[in-house]
Amino acid sequence: MPKIFVARRIPDQGMNLLYDAFGRESVTVYPKDEVIPRAKLLEGVKGVDALLPILTDRIDAEVMDAAGPQLKIIANFAVGYNNVDVAAATARRIPVTNTPGVLTETTADLTWALILAVARRVGESERILRAGQWPGWGPMQLMGSDVFGKTLGIFGFGRIGKAVARRAKAFDMRVLYTSRDEVDPELDHEYHAHGVDKAALLAESDFVSVHCPLLPETIHAFGAAEFKAMKKTAYLINTSRGPVIDETALAKALKSGEIAGAGLDVYEEEPKIHPELLKCENAVLLPHLGSATSETRGKMAHIAATNVVARLKGERPPNCVNPDAL
Ligand code: GLV
Repeated sequence: MPKIFVARRIPDQGMNLLYDAFGRESVTVYPKDEVIPRAKLLEGVKGVDALLPILTDRIDAEVMDAAGPQLKIIANFAVGYNNVDVAAATARRIPVTNTPGVLTETTADLTWALILAVARRVGESERILRAGQWPGWGPMQLMGSDVFGKTLGIFGFGRIGKAVARRAKAFDMRVLYTSRDEVDPELDHEYHAHGVDKAALLAESDFVSVHCPLLPETIHAFGAAEFKAMKKTAYLINTSRGPVIDETALAKALKSGEIAGAGLDVYEEEPKIHPELLKCENAVLLPHLGSATSETRGKMAHIAATNVVARLKGERPPNCVNPDAL
């Protein structure tokens, strides 16, 4: 009977798959609905064959070694896997899996929620209304910026970046993007978009939306120099990972009017929010909701559990990010 440790309860679509495949006794779930404390994680993984962590859990060599040499899979409940030390897992021949594809459209929708909310001052306006401070309609009141017809710059043209680009068509926007891959004219044609370099993206976009993974080379890809290079009327949107943006520099740029606003779903030190960002009325701040719909979280749970089941049954886990470990 294999032992599986789930670091925080996930939707039934995943739990039931594990229960049906191996029986309830095989599965231990950290019982509290909170980020598992490090000591409980180190204790909970002891002797397990499979670990299903959440993106908030740091899964490093210490955790892998605490589990022991029988650990056969780390099935991360997220598409991003910067919380897992993949090199350490590969060195121990432990496959790491993620949940790609199913959250693409959901995250693209939330990106658009942020684009519209920051441009039309939705958060700020609602705060005024709820505080009983709305004096009634005014011709110069709470004027924002149009979205339709503007230029959208997508930093990182992977699955989510492309899904954001498709939605931009309905807003008659010009779409620019940067990509790690070679510019492909067919891609440009398909998405009505133009591959450009970062300098052009920053200089020309009215909305810059970040969709790259968090890698050593993308840490602080947006800092003081980038904000200076953006239009003063431009907005920055981030639904990828917090450390891609230097928050101290962003708060300064928002206060000084170097850029017009920011819509953020992710932060450098979640769940801590930079105190200066909290003071910025021109920032829309969401609590890492990108994939948070019941449909999508159910599918993510199903994928994470499918990877566990496949691996423990001796098959290839379908979403392995380090195939060298297999
Ligand atoms: C969410 O942030 C994810 O990576 O799935």
